[in-house]
Amino acid sequence: MDRVVYVDGRYVAKDEAKVSVFDHGFLYGDGVFEGIRAYGGRIFRLEAHIERLYDSARAILLPIPMDPAAMAEVVVESCRRNTIRDGYVRLVVSRGVGDLGLDPRKCARASVVCIADTIALYPEQLYEQGMRIGTVPTRRSGVENLNPRIKSLNYLNNILAKLEGNLAGYPEVLMLNQDGFVVECTADNVFILRGGRLVTPPPWLGILEGVTRATIMELGRQAGLDVREETFTRLDVWTADECFITGTGAEVVPVVECDGRRIGDGHPGPVTRDLIRRYRELAASEGVPIAARDDVPASTVGALVAQAQSGAMSWTDCFEALSGLGLGTSEIAKAAGKSYQQVRSSLVARRASKLRAGGRP
Ligand SMILES: Cc1ncc(COP(=O)(O)O)c(C=O)c1O
Repeated sequence: MDRVVYVDGRYVAKDEAKVSVFDHGFLYGDGVFEGIRAYGGRIFRLEAHIERLYDSARAILLPIPMDPAAMAEVVVESCRRNTIRDGYVRLVVSRGVGDLGLDPRKCARASVVCIADTIALYPEQLYEQGMRIGTVPTRRSGVENLNPRIKSLNYLNNILAKLEGNLAGYPEVLMLNQDGFVVECTADNVFILRGGRLVTPPPWLGILEGVTRATIMELGRQAGLDVREETFTRLDVWTADECFITGTGAEVVPVVECDGRRIGDGHPGPVTRDLIRRYRELAASEGVPIAARDDVPASTVGALVAQAQSGAMSWTDCFEALSGLGLGTSEIAKAAGKSYQQVRSSLVARRASKLRAGGRP
């Protein structure tokens, strides 16, 4: 099917979904993002992802031109319009268009992009047999430099590690911080099971606080495990009873070997297998519904109107989006608090200019 992508208030065809080359997200990796999963027609842990997105933005003084509720609605609506039931959503907020200097003050408004697509999954065999990983020389950015808690568009630190993993033939690799403590992988968090304790590195050490990580900590506690956030080293991974990595894309992947050392008996352990089962059950049973509804939800209408009111989108774009959702002119006028005539002439003018440009009305 032809995908549509949300770009700054409009849903446009995939091939037309573009941002400026002067956007500082492109020029400098200045921006933040989220990767979100949908399972069986529901968006998993959407609130947690939205909260992390706004926290990341706050940390880099990036004002997002819409509120979290409107952003959540953009994610849901992107799935709806692309008929996604099981898929992956990439939500990006970049600093926006500026000049060629670094200064973010030159960027008038952040750009918001939302891509809802399908996802290429790891083969099921990997979950059954486990993954071999290794440690790479590139160290994870320190918290005083580029704190990994910020999910920024600047992923070169992770990519350098990924390149080393590619050369060594590992699908994912373990990263240490400057002090030699295990922190996380290039796109996943890490857990070890030692002496009955499920341990994962604490956020202050320099990790992204994964949404999957938080879910697994919750599920681990529900399963009666002693779950802790503690520092550990590579040696603790090599000598662990079990080890696994977690991430939105990967979910929970057993790790059976690290740096050539076999972990446990070299097979996914019972705790890991139990947590995989619990995670899959939870992901299949909760989340924000994408639901094809007959009527347009008030929240969608409200979110679009709020964007126009805040100046994040033009009123014409707002009217057009509402019209695209199937609302009639009078319904749009009522929702937006405008006169029927205002809405009508605005929509007519937009259609006319599209026709002049040779596009579809
Ligand atoms: C560096 C890093 N660590 C951990 C994770 C896992 O986080 P989550 O479970 O929220 O996907 C990711 C996910 O993209 C990541 O990029």
